[in-house]
Formats: sequence, C-alpha cells, structure tokens
Amino acid sequence: MAAHGDAWPESARIASTGLGDMDAGDFRASAHALADWIADYFESGSRYPVLAHVSPGTIRAALDRQAPERGAPMSEILSDFERVLLPGVTHWNQPGFMAYFPSTGSGPGVLGEFLAAALNQQAMLWRTSPAATELEEVVLDWVAQLIGLPPGFEGVIHDGGSSSNLHALAAARAAVLPDVRQRGVANRNLRVYASEQAHSSVAKAVILLGLGLDALEEIPVDRSFRMRADALRAAIARDVARGVRPMAVVATAGTTSTGSLDPLPAIAGICRETGVWLHVDAAYAGAAAILPDHRWILEGADRADSLVLNPHKWLFTPLDLSAFYCRRMDVLRAGLALTADYLVTREPAAVRNLMDTGISLGRRFRALKLWMVLRHFGAEGLRARISGQIRLARRFASWVAADPGFEIVAPPSLGVVCLRVAPPGVEDDQALDALNAAVLDRVNRSGEVFLSQTRLGGRLAIRLVVGQLRTGEAHVARAWALLRDAAQGLHRQAGLGT
Ligand SMILES: Cc1ncc(COP(=O)(O)O)c(C=O)c1O
Repeated sequence: MAAHGDAWPESARIASTGLGDMDAGDFRASAHALADWIADYFESGSRYPVLAHVSPGTIRAALDRQAPERGAPMSEILSDFERVLLPGVTHWNQPGFMAYFPSTGSGPGVLGEFLAAALNQQAMLWRTSPAATELEEVVLDWVAQLIGLPPGFEGVIHDGGSSSNLHALAAARAAVLPDVRQRGVANRNLRVYASEQAHSSVAKAVILLGLGLDALEEIPVDRSFRMRADALRAAIARDVARGVRPMAVVATAGTTSTGSLDPLPAIAGICRETGVWLHVDAAYAGAAAILPDHRWILEGADRADSLVLNPHKWLFTPLDLSAFYCRRMDVLRAGLALTADYLVTREPAAVRNLMDTGISLGRRFRALKLWMVLRHFGAEGLRARISGQIRLARRFASWVAADPGFEIVAPPSLGVVCLRVAPPGVEDDQALDALNAAVLDRVNRSGEVFLSQTRLGGRLAIRLVVGQLRTGEAHVARAWALLRDAAQGLHRQAGLGT
C-alpha cells in the first residue's frame, strides 16, 4: 500500500521540524515488532491463563507512581507492557473465553482499529470526515440487510449497547413528550416496560433520562425466561386506566443471563395497538439473524421503532461498536441536536452530521473496522462461523443433559448454556449453590477456560457462552471435562448427598 503524499509538488510540502512525533524509523520498527507480537499472540492460543490471576492492586503497585519526566524508547515501553501489564490481562481473545457474550479482536478488526487510530478521524460533522460519515451509513445498511431489517431504519454507531439503549429511550421520550428538551420530565408520569431479564443498561437509561426507577415496570417471564406478553398487555392497560403514560417497551432478543428471546411478534402487536414505542435490544442475538434458519429471531422487529445490535459482541468486531437503528431518527434529532456557532457548516441540508443523533460530539472512525470485518469474512464466512458456534453450544448442552450429575437450568439458546451441578439426592439449594460456586471457582482457576455465573429462579447457575472466534470443539470439550472433574472432586470432598 503506497502513501499518497507524492501527489503534491515538492514546493507544497513542508518538512516537519522541531520536536514532532516519534521518529518515523522508530515508528516503523515498533509497528512491525508489535504486528509480530500480535500475530504470535493470536496464534499461540492458550499460552496465557484466560482469566487474569492477580490480586487487586498488584498492577498498580508495579507501575511508577510519578509521571515519567524523561521519554523512553518504545522497545523499553513494550517490554514493560509484557512484564507489568500482561499478567493483569483477562484474555477475551482466547479460545477458552466462554464467560460473557464474546468480543473477538479478529485480525481484520484489529487492523481496522490500527488504521483508524492512525487516521484519527473525528466524525462529528460530515466535513470533519466525509469518509467516516458515509462509510458508517453504508456498513450499517449492510448489517441491516444481512439481518433482514426492512428499509426505513436509519443507523448510527454508538460505543456500546448501553449507549444505544439510552438513545432508544431518549428517542421514545421525545416521541411522547415533544417538548421534553425544554420542559424536562418532572411529574410527566411516564412508564417503561421491560422483562425482569432485561439488561441492566435499560434501568440505567431510565435513571439517566430522569424518569426514576419507579418508572420501570419489570414484566414477569415465563419458564423459558421470555417476557410474558399477556402480563405486558395487562400492565399497559392498568397504567393507561390510571393516567400513567406508557413511553416504551424494551423487548430483548437474547437476554444476558440465558440468551432467551422475548416473543417479538406478540409484543410488536401490543405496541402497535397501544401506540407505544418498541425498542428491540438484540445486542447479542441480532447477529444470529444473518443465518437464514435463524431469521425468525427478529420476526416482529420490522414493526419496531428502534433496535440495537452489537457487532462487538457476535460479529467479530473488537470493542467498541454498537449499531443503533431507528425508524424515527428525526425524533431523536429534534430532541438532541444542538449546533454551536463554531459547528455551523455550509453543507447542503441532506448531509448527515452524526453529532446530531447522539450525546458524543467526538466520534471515532469505528465503521472502518466493521467494514474490514464484513469485507474480509463476507456474509458466508460470518454465517459459517456463527452457525458452527451454535452447533458447538448445542453439543455441549447435550453432554450436560446426558449427565445425571448436572442439570440444564434454562433452555439453551444460541451460544448460551446455563447449567448447574446437581448430584442425585442433594436437595438443599444453599448447599448446591455453594457447590456450584466452588466448582466455578476451581474451573476458572485452571486458567484454561473462563466461565461466568448467573442466578435463575433464585438459584446459582454456571453460564457458558460459545462465540469467541477461536473457540473450537476441543476447547468446549475441555471446559466440560474441567466442570465434571471439579464437580466430582468437590462433591466428594463436601460429602454431600448419597
Ligand atoms: C442484552 C444486552 N443488552 C445490552 C448490553 C450492553 O451492551 P454494552 O456492554 O455494549 O454496553 C448487553 C451487554 O452484555 C446485553 O447483554
């Protein structure tokens, strides 16, 4: 790849003088060394314990307290990175990472980040980066097509699903209260509905928007942890009857604990009937809708007002990148846009200034890494990887279900399996919780895999998620072997049951 400075005549080039950036030769050498380091890191798979095993304060104590007075060569800084910081890294990019919804630093994604940092675009206005602005629009359209979202949704990138959920509810609030930016929300009696399994960022958004947590109605779930549409309908009717204004319903496609999918068609029907804003939180599961046999996941989302999908979860894009889609972005613009004198431009009105649809003014060139990921893998490559991961999770669930010492505690959904060590004859829930916590701890201490936990029906469950790009069958099988060994060892040690 050639740099294009050569297009300028010699007389127009001004040599950099004085105390500028690091020396170009040093930069080149360090960048090559770093590229080698990263390639080895990706290739060596399980060289590091997946979960950082350092005690709190260790990293801080190993770092200088004083800001450096003298500059140091990059070689020295990189070697300190390996010596001091690396032990405190939990390796989200390792195949044994099965704890949370994954985020994969895929090769094309990392290269996109590298280039984005070098270009250092700030896409607040179209003119401050036409490429970042227009690429953002195009890649989000690509993703919308891949998941079957109909035309009419406008997309914008936020840093995470939490921000996207916040903006969705800000739009919903502006839709019910067009004068909210002037008058605020005091005593406006609004209500937001989400299942009791919805992500905590929904509650945070309700707090941040000044509605107060009392405005959040947690709708109960069925035995499969899906929102009960009948309960939603009843809650809205009850509120309307007593003068409370329903502001938005948040339906989740892929809840965080179990991956459960709220019944979108029924919920969309209720929202249509009652005129309530429907936001679909598909931060995790939305990616699976690129599979033709999983399109149904988003059935009903065509009637939503807004939707979020996080490519930094399951579309192999490194943190951070959340795709926020809105059918009524004009409402959000009307509620949020503020153009200070120094930001006024003369571009035609049709030009999009991305600062108008969010709280951040400074916006990174995030679209670049997503563009690279989508172009590198192609839709067929993404489909092959995601369907392979779903198959692996199902296989793991079948092993668990066939073992009498374990139980599956929620219907496995996509890459998520929630299980519990449940030796026959042991009924005491508290003892079982303690046993499960100890098993999880032992497995995570192995350094080979990292699993997480949740609580379902008041009981502790171990949670495994397949979705990291580098996870293969051998890694999932290893997680299963570690779980069984730990369960047998600790059960015997505790002398539980028969
Ligand atoms: C269903 C769901 N929505 C939203 C979020 C928040 O996303 P982020 O971590 O990108 O803010 C998460 C995070 O795990 C999630 O699981």
